[in-house]
Amino acid sequence: MLNLSEILTFKRLNGGSNIKILGLVGSPNINGNTAKLVNAILDGAAENGSEKSIYNLASLNIKGCDACLKCQESGCCLINDDMQELYQEIQTADAIVLGSPVYMWQMTAQTKLLIDRLTAFLKPNFSSRLDNKKLILVFSQGSSDRDAFKPYFEYTAGLLYYLGFDVLETIIAAGTDKLEVSSRPGLIEKARELGKLISAPHMSEPEFRRTESSLTPIL
Ligand SMILES: Cc1cc2nc3c(=O)[nH]c(=O)nc-3n(C[C@H](O)[C@H](O)[C@H](O)COP(=O)(O)O)c2cc1C
Repeated sequence: MLNLSEILTFKRLNGGSNIKILGLVGSPNINGNTAKLVNAILDGAAENGSEKSIYNLASLNIKGCDACLKCQESGCCLINDDMQELYQEIQTADAIVLGSPVYMWQMTAQTKLLIDRLTAFLKPNFSSRLDNKKLILVFSQGSSDRDAFKPYFEYTAGLLYYLGFDVLETIIAAGTDKLEVSSRPGLIEKARELGKLISAPHMSEPEFRRTESSLTPIL
């Protein structure tokens, strides 16, 4: 009997329409700038035949980590809330798109609740239970200064690496106070192309431009 990882590898090698891409949006604006970018990436992936699903974190019941640390041994969080569904979704997704607006120079509180609960993916020795799951990070910010939060975005990408995600790209919509994402077809199109790229059936690692040390704002 094949385990989950073997099933996903088998499916990936035998056709294009089987990659599962998961969008997580940490904005209270259900159809705001962040959601539009995340959706554009998912739509691009769907054009390649990927299965897409999206959750708005602000609409879910996600409690704060209560520091019982029971998850470290078992890998299972004991808090019975909507994170239980998200743990499953994250584990079975081939790629994740995580988006947040910048609030007070950082990710939103809704996004941080999720991040804290991802501690369940860490083993007692702090290595990850995740196998370098592909992730695209999306930020949107009112400020038109693209570099204003660059250190914070890099820091966040570093945190996600630590948690076991392979952060392939960080995309930023800057200056949304003056021009919303919906008025930038070029930006939406680039996000869509990114979705196609991440879901390409035979995407080899070097084809994807990593952004460990440099961010690629696609404004
Ligand atoms: C409470 C709050 C705090 C914010 N803080 C910042 C900030 O520190 N820097 C910034 O550039 N924009 C800030 N913004 C603006 C949002 O980041 C920006 O409008 C973003 O595009 C909203 O994304 P959304 O449409 O997906 O909700 C803030 C907005 C709110 C409501």
